[in-house]
Amino acid sequence: MKIRRTALVTGGNRGIGRAVCERLAREGLAVVLTARRAADAAAAASELAAAGLEVRGEALDLADERSVSNCAGRLRSAGIDVDVLVNNGAVLFQGDVLSSSSKEFRAALDINLLGALWTCRAFVPAMVERGYGRVVNVSSGWGAFAEGLDGPASYSISKAGLNALTVSLARSLSGDVMVNACCPGWVRTRMGGADADRSPEEGADTIVWLATLPAGGPNGGFFRDRAPTEW
Ligand SMILES: NC(=O)c1ccc[n+]([C@@H]2O[C@H](COP(=O)([O-])OP(=O)(O)OC[C@H]3O[C@@H](n4cnc5c(N)ncnc54)[C@H](OP(=O)(O)O)[C@@H]3O)[C@@H](O)[C@H]2O)c1
Repeated sequence: MKIRRTALVTGGNRGIGRAVCERLAREGLAVVLTARRAADAAAAASELAAAGLEVRGEALDLADERSVSNCAGRLRSAGIDVDVLVNNGAVLFQGDVLSSSSKEFRAALDINLLGALWTCRAFVPAMVERGYGRVVNVSSGWGAFAEGLDGPASYSISKAGLNALTVSLARSLSGDVMVNACCPGWVRTRMGGADADRSPEEGADTIVWLATLPAGGPNGGFFRDRAPTEW
């Protein structure tokens, strides 16, 4: 009998995160769609539920460690085990190392890097206990040293940190829980803009692939278009 898995997606209310929620639900997973604001989570979840998909909305603000642990507590109380964690929510601010505002630098590191750390700490230990888990850190080519960290400074540095978190966490886990990072490509969302060459559904593809890896899949890798790419 196939076990039904539950996936939690951060920043699931719009853009790539929303496409990931929809695709995972269509593939038969129960989905916890989280968003910074409870009302946005509820609205997006009920739209997907209206299409017959099993999607529950929950508030989870990546900038607030307590909001992450509160969300984990509510799910525990409801008897929901998170088997798949998609760290998707992020912010992008312009500016280089010297010109970016301190406030935006802190927000980028808090949300894009530490937010993923808080969710991993909230959900991965139970995955280890249950002997199954998939973590997908949605990173970016702009966070890759191999591609020159070629984006706005606070974003590139936060995503390089997210890549480092991926390697470091993967090293501490057995193969039952796999942690990988990926770049979704350039995607038409509020962040990617209207000229990007991919739809949110196309951007979701490698994320969903990593979220549903079979046993024996890769651990601690960085992927684009379902293929390994350089850190
Ligand atoms: N689009 C691209 O071309 C591209 C390229 C490479 C990598 N990526 C990565 O792909 C992921 C999704 O990006 P996207 O293009 O879908 O961006 P997007 O349309 O701007 O959506 C970003 C999502 O992150 C959420 N978010 C922001 N701050 C948050 C917080 N404090 N707590 C929880 N959620 C928060 C947003 O929620 P609100 O609605 O509340 O703001 C929104 O749901 C990101 O990790 C991004 O870095 C995107």
